[in-house]
Amino acid sequence: MMIYLISVILASIFIIPFAIKTLSPYLWLDILYLKDLLRILVTFVSRRRRRPFFFVLDRFLEQTAAHPDKSFIVFENEHFSYTYTDRRSNQTANALLAQPGYKAGDTVALFMGNEPAFMFTWLALAKLGSPVALLNHNIRTKSLLHCFNCCKATVLIAASELKAAVEDVLPTLTEQGVTVLLMTKHCDSPGIESFSDKVDEASDSPLPRSLRSHITFKSPAVYIYTSGTTGLPKAAVVNQNRLLTALAVLASNGVTSSDVIYLNLPLYHTAGFIIGFIGSIETGSTIILKRKFSASQFWDDCRKHSVTVVQYIGEVMRYLCSKPKRENDKDHKVKLAIGNGIRAEVWKEFLNRFGNIEVREFYASTEGNVGFVNYVGKIGAIGRVNFFHQKLFPFTLIKYDTERDEPIRDDNGLCVEAPKGETGLLVSKITDIAPFVGYAQNEEQTERKKLRNVLKKGDLYFNSGDLMRIDNDNFIYFQDRVGDTFRWKGENVATNEVSDILTISDGLKEANVYGVQVPGHEGRIGMAAVTMKEGAQFDGSRIFNHVVSYLPSYARPRFIRIQNAVEVTGTFKQMKVKLVEESFDPGCIQDPLYILDNEEKSYIPLTAQVYSSIISGNIKL
Ligand SMILES: *[C@@H]1O[C@H](CO)[C@@H](O)[C@H](O)[C@H]1NC(C)=O
Repeated sequence: MMIYLISVILASIFIIPFAIKTLSPYLWLDILYLKDLLRILVTFVSRRRRRPFFFVLDRFLEQTAAHPDKSFIVFENEHFSYTYTDRRSNQTANALLAQPGYKAGDTVALFMGNEPAFMFTWLALAKLGSPVALLNHNIRTKSLLHCFNCCKATVLIAASELKAAVEDVLPTLTEQGVTVLLMTKHCDSPGIESFSDKVDEASDSPLPRSLRSHITFKSPAVYIYTSGTTGLPKAAVVNQNRLLTALAVLASNGVTSSDVIYLNLPLYHTAGFIIGFIGSIETGSTIILKRKFSASQFWDDCRKHSVTVVQYIGEVMRYLCSKPKRENDKDHKVKLAIGNGIRAEVWKEFLNRFGNIEVREFYASTEGNVGFVNYVGKIGAIGRVNFFHQKLFPFTLIKYDTERDEPIRDDNGLCVEAPKGETGLLVSKITDIAPFVGYAQNEEQTERKKLRNVLKKGDLYFNSGDLMRIDNDNFIYFQDRVGDTFRWKGENVATNEVSDILTISDGLKEANVYGVQVPGHEGRIGMAAVTMKEGAQFDGSRIFNHVVSYLPSYARPRFIRIQNAVEVTGTFKQMKVKLVEESFDPGCIQDPLYILDNEEKSYIPLTAQVYSSIISGNIKL
């Protein structure tokens, strides 16, 4: 298999001179990119052949041996060296082994914000051969239980500040026999055990390899949650093989051990965990870890720690650019920004303001089998079609009917490729080297992401759910998302999940949830068109309380539109398209409109004045 791969690569390299005409003027950069890909592949293949098996943990141990005293993590002015990290994770692992209700290999759920203990605990669990479910620390109650249960975890390790959230679901956890450990030195609550004190006391002696001898490349390593098109979040299975490939993400973008990485994205998401954390293990860099993103601390942090690489999502870049200009804007050592979702106009402004920083915009999803990186710095693009890349990972854009929300098919029932310059749905062939592992305990959702009979009868593709466009120079541009999710503040929001929550509140009969665009903001903000139950009155503060107790802040509908009845004309989908178009302008919409007001703790009427302040940017959402 791998031999075949290498021959494909070599063959492609010899073909390149003949393709000069089509590849120029980016030929040189394309070749450099191929060279990097080739190097990554060779490293990967040789690691896959090592016995005993070589996993991400082994790379961490190599780095610890190579520079034991180097800082691995810097957090709130404390430095943790590679050796300290290794010892602390051994202590965590030994403490866990002594814990009744846990045995090596059991799946553990980690419910914790960004802090060093997150990384120590993950490494500890890797040493014990345990898969780890990375729970989003913003979720509560029903969602929390759902996420916990869908990966069959038997132990929950939670940060001390999340105690109340754990207590909310404790009766159910206790009933299921789950061991609940809290990162605190002392805990009185029955059913919750303190864990930090046990870690402090535990030995840092090595964990025998035999504890993880059952692990293969197919074993789940982490579960990362993604919002689905329907219902509650799904746990994407990231297996050991995929994690091993993921080691390359920073290294392939020129990051080395002398780099200092600024990690301010949540560790429960792919960007923070895989790119920031796992990526730094490969390069042996130092991570400046932040609890969360702060636009006002960003550049001061970068100066203080001589940061050279920053991670971003679109919102991060926009917030940085919207801060008032400062004289020292260009005074820093950042040379590379790597991330996803930066808009062309923000990109230009960013370079203008903060100087010559290389922006590496990429496209990838947690569970998907295709990814791109814009390695030539073309503003606005997420990547580039490359002959070799397409041979290895066959992908294409197909025509898509956004009204009916399905791919367009021809008379033979096959999909139709979108010509250059036209928007189409990105689909990528599922193969041995581009597998789609799917979601834990969710065959139905896994099946939904597969598309059959795309270009030939019987073929099988992964449906990315993303609409893209390829221009004449082969650059790929992200256009939009299809279906029932939208992004707000860097998080995916599943519209059906939000409507489910709304309709279990008193008074509301139906709820149709969608995202609307607001000038000056990335993504879409949540809005719900609802109907009331017979005789019920809209009670803003009641709905507010309901929404706040069930949904994380980014998923709460900011606007509510009250309708007399759900419109019957057209399909449900068409209706949504119309609602999205009408947006939230009280000047155009006759129905009563409300806006969520955090100060008033209620939904209050949306006036024309508030509307114009939002549009002019005086009110930030
Ligand atoms: C911690 O455990 C790892 C193996 O799991 C081992 O290689 C390392 O030497 C241990 N560290 C210490 C300080 O004993």
